[in-house]
Amino acid sequence: MKTLVILVHPDMENSRINKSWKEELEKYPDKITIHELYKEYPDWNIDIKKEQELILKHDNIIFEFPLYWYSSPPILKKWLDDVLSFNWAYGNEYRLKGKNIGFAVSVGGPETEYSKTGYVKFSMNEILIPFEATVEYIKANLISHYILFDATESLSKEKLLESTKNYIKHIFSIK
Ligand SMILES: Cc1cc2nc3c(=O)[nH]c(=O)nc-3n(C[C@H](O)[C@H](O)[C@H](O)COP(=O)(O)O)c2cc1C
Repeated sequence: MKTLVILVHPDMENSRINKSWKEELEKYPDKITIHELYKEYPDWNIDIKKEQELILKHDNIIFEFPLYWYSSPPILKKWLDDVLSFNWAYGNEYRLKGKNIGFAVSVGGPETEYSKTGYVKFSMNEILIPFEATVEYIKANLISHYILFDATESLSKEKLLESTKNYIKHIFSIK
């Protein structure tokens, strides 16, 4: 079954990491659908029916985004508010029940700082708890997060290539 990657980046033109990941995803059009929210909805007027239909066509859904202020870029919050509607995602109907949902996040800071003793004070698992709670609430299956730390201009080409290959492997390992 095809994987839907919901890509949430407000500035793809200047992206390095998510652009590299996207270029790799594009090599598998029969297995992966890429859906870019900022490109699709420059006016933020989300077509709820279209989004819901797209979700129903896929068993695996990955939300991919750069970490912005310890969360996602803002259109994803609006997308969740609009698309996960009452009696569709929860209430009398749980249409995402049993779907595999995961998060692929590029993080500018180093992994060592994402701990109790680092300057961030919290781990990425803790930071992503609101997203995890959402997945739980709609009765979908949460799959492991795919996180790249040190996601900056200084990340070596080799590390970027490695993360890009591992991202695809991660997607293809979803059962
Ligand atoms: C508005 C903004 C907020 C950011 N907030 C964080 C943050 O909270 N933690 C962090 O480690 N990096 C943060 N960063 C760095 C981004 O996560 C990093 O630039 C991005 O993941 C790189 O991916 P890209 O090359 O696809 O843009 C932020 C960057 C921007 C522009």
